[in-house]
Amino acid sequence: MFEILTKAPGDKILALMGEYAADPRSTKVDLGVGVYKDEKGVTPVMTSVRKAEERMLSNAKTKTYLGIAGNKGYGNAVLDLVLADSVDRARVRIAQAPGGTGSLWVLMQLINRARPGATIYVSDPTWANHNPIAIGAGLKVATYPYFDPATRGVKFAQMLSALDALGAGDVVLLHGCCHNPTGANLNNDQWDQVAASLARTGALPFIDLAYLGFGDGIEADAYGTRKVLASVPEALIAFSGSKNFGLYRERVGAAILVARNADEADVTNSQLLNIIRGAYSQPPDHGAEIIRTILEDAALRAEWETELAAMRNRMIALRIKLAEAIRERSNSTDFDFVADHRGMFSLLGLSNDAVEHLKAENGVYMTGDSRINVAGIPEDRVGDLADAFLGATR
Ligand code: LMR
Repeated sequence: MFEILTKAPGDKILALMGEYAADPRSTKVDLGVGVYKDEKGVTPVMTSVRKAEERMLSNAKTKTYLGIAGNKGYGNAVLDLVLADSVDRARVRIAQAPGGTGSLWVLMQLINRARPGATIYVSDPTWANHNPIAIGAGLKVATYPYFDPATRGVKFAQMLSALDALGAGDVVLLHGCCHNPTGANLNNDQWDQVAASLARTGALPFIDLAYLGFGDGIEADAYGTRKVLASVPEALIAFSGSKNFGLYRERVGAAILVARNADEADVTNSQLLNIIRGAYSQPPDHGAEIIRTILEDAALRAEWETELAAMRNRMIALRIKLAEAIRERSNSTDFDFVADHRGMFSLLGLSNDAVEHLKAENGVYMTGDSRINVAGIPEDRVGDLADAFLGATR
């Protein structure tokens, strides 16, 4: 049976982790996979998470099944966090799912049940895992213009006119905040225009919200999602708790659906639960119970928000430091976009050769499209990195 298989392509982002680990140079710098790192280069367990886990360990009475939609308290807490009062909850359903990827996976399957072979429009470029998940679900993938390599900002006029040309039955995948891989994001006025376009055309918004709180704050980062939800009859959201709670390996996320009314929400949700049952039956609870414990407890929640703000502010400070170091050395504002971008990533706009050169010569690892994870920048090496990036662009 297996002899007919050919080798599947490896995942470029995760492969980079292995390459970096195997590099013996002590001066190497990991700007690859999107995990937060502190000033010691460590991806820490957040203190609020540790406290929640301690509480869970002493209070746990059972590990019996929770059901297909997972941890209900978690679901309600995530809806409060993400939606606030943007949409009537009678039209909303949520299922806990394994990470952002698991949430995307079940929702793409759901789209294909509703509209087999529908086209999903993704930003150009988008996260490397979006296409395989969509194609695996049976959807067609097309792109809408997004990143402008000249300005390293968003080509908003082109994006909007592409969205305006879509129709009911099309799906638009939007990054709710902290665009991956580019770091270039819509401002509130642009979100308003996108929401109005979706309301006009009837295309279905599908929001990937993997970095809530990593950009400008929880409320600021939720603006686009809430605006879209307040404007359209139907929507999907894939939420991830991997980054903002630092729970990467626990695989905690949520698939959220918004339907036109409560009856349609129930029917659509029954399909979603049916997909989940046939895929992994029920989600793992540990990460969800951590998040529920934190969000339901005022003191733990305040502590988490403080820790989240510290991560966010550190990334913004590193962005400013790198942009300044490059400006000092080059006397040009060409890299100022790094300070304007938000979230974990910036797309530098270097050639693949330059990326390979940086890896081979400088031990600086980033994905082949020249995406850097700003949280991976060691504070005492900003000058070295500025020199290396400038060297690679010459
Ligand atoms: C990334 O883009 O680096 C992260 O979302 C990790 C992943 O799974 O790709």
